[in-house]
Amino acid sequence: MISVVIPTYNEAAVIEETLRRAAAALRTAAEDFELVVVDDAGTDGTAERAESLASEIPVHVLRRPGRLGLATAVLDGWAIARGEVLGVMDADLQHPPEVLTGLAQAIRKEGADLAIGSRYVPGGGTSDWTWMRRMISRTATHMAATVLPLKLAAVGDPMSGVFLVRASALCDAHLNPLGYKILLEVLAKAHYQKLVEVPYIFQERERGSSKLGARQYLEYLLHLVRLAVGTGQLYAGIRYALVALVGALIDVGLVCALVQRQGWPAIAALPLAIEVALLSNFAWSEIFTFRSSPTSRFRSGMWGRLLRYEGICIPGALLNILVALVWLSQIGKLITGAALGVVSGGVCNFLFNIPSIWRTWGRCVYSR
Ligand code: GDD
Ligand code: MN
Repeated sequence: MISVVIPTYNEAAVIEETLRRAAAALRTAAEDFELVVVDDAGTDGTAERAESLASEIPVHVLRRPGRLGLATAVLDGWAIARGEVLGVMDADLQHPPEVLTGLAQAIRKEGADLAIGSRYVPGGGTSDWTWMRRMISRTATHMAATVLPLKLAAVGDPMSGVFLVRASALCDAHLNPLGYKILLEVLAKAHYQKLVEVPYIFQERERGSSKLGARQYLEYLLHLVRLAVGTGQLYAGIRYALVALVGALIDVGLVCALVQRQGWPAIAALPLAIEVALLSNFAWSEIFTFRSSPTSRFRSGMWGRLLRYEGICIPGALLNILVALVWLSQIGKLITGAALGVVSGGVCNFLFNIPSIWRTWGRCVYSR
């Protein structure tokens, strides 16, 4: 059976249509199902309207005494759910309930452990969002991938609020979410092998109003920090930053030594210094940042990782050289040019490459 939790806080205007369409979508997938509405003492009679459909649709309503948060509503709903597959979907029709058909099929036919409704895979998207809203959504998604690169690098839409997961994947997962993003918690802690993203278009809200405010944004940031600490990725991040700093010093020091002491032209010194710095970064990543245990330092696959790492770093390295040469030709001070080059390359990696760089070591166990 599939149990889909539908959290509500004042959604009377839409709840009946949501429940009917969700039921139809799951029937289309030929699924045995139940819908669990978790209502937080709204004032508009959402719970009563949901209950009034109980004769046509298998729906249960859990009433909670006050607004206790979206993520905990999902957990409380799952706690009373009977399905071996658990799920969640918004009540406000911004998640078109029809996506449940594809999600159910991903679990049953494709054998997924986790099926996520996704805006950021081909075929998915957002309706007429302003560029500002798009940017906030993308930034929040990218931040999550940068803070939790080992867990989230392979997921297009880790912020999604519509997904199904096998209950068995959540055994001993100790979900302890904060705020809105229950999926982050599941991605970070559940034991899943196969993840499938099913595209959907996030709809405009036509009725009722969004419950997302400043408090939810703050909770999101706190949630990310807590997950980074809990999964050990914060400490790996600090080690990563230390290694990057050493690499930067090597790069600048070597450029200056080669040009000023040995009389090399900058255009030859820069690539060599960058390569030495990258090798240092790589070696320290192997033995320090992502080490599993001191005895397994020289694990198999090292050359493959080196090649991949070098490949990912090429654009940052080119930017580094370009910035340094332009600075040298315009202003002329070598050490500043080399330093600006390093910073540009580093920022480029930080903005675009952290998830893929970390995934180079993604299969290695890393210590806390
Ligand atoms: N029980 C309960 N308690 N339900 C809540 C609470 C709460 O404290 N806060 C919000 N809800 C319900 C709403 O009634 C709605 O059904 C659903 O949770 C989502 O709330 P919205 O306020 O409509 O969220 P949103 O549209 O801004 O964000 C949604 O879209 C995101 C995609 O970026 C959420 O679904 C996110 O989970 C999703 O990731
Ligand atoms: Mn909404």
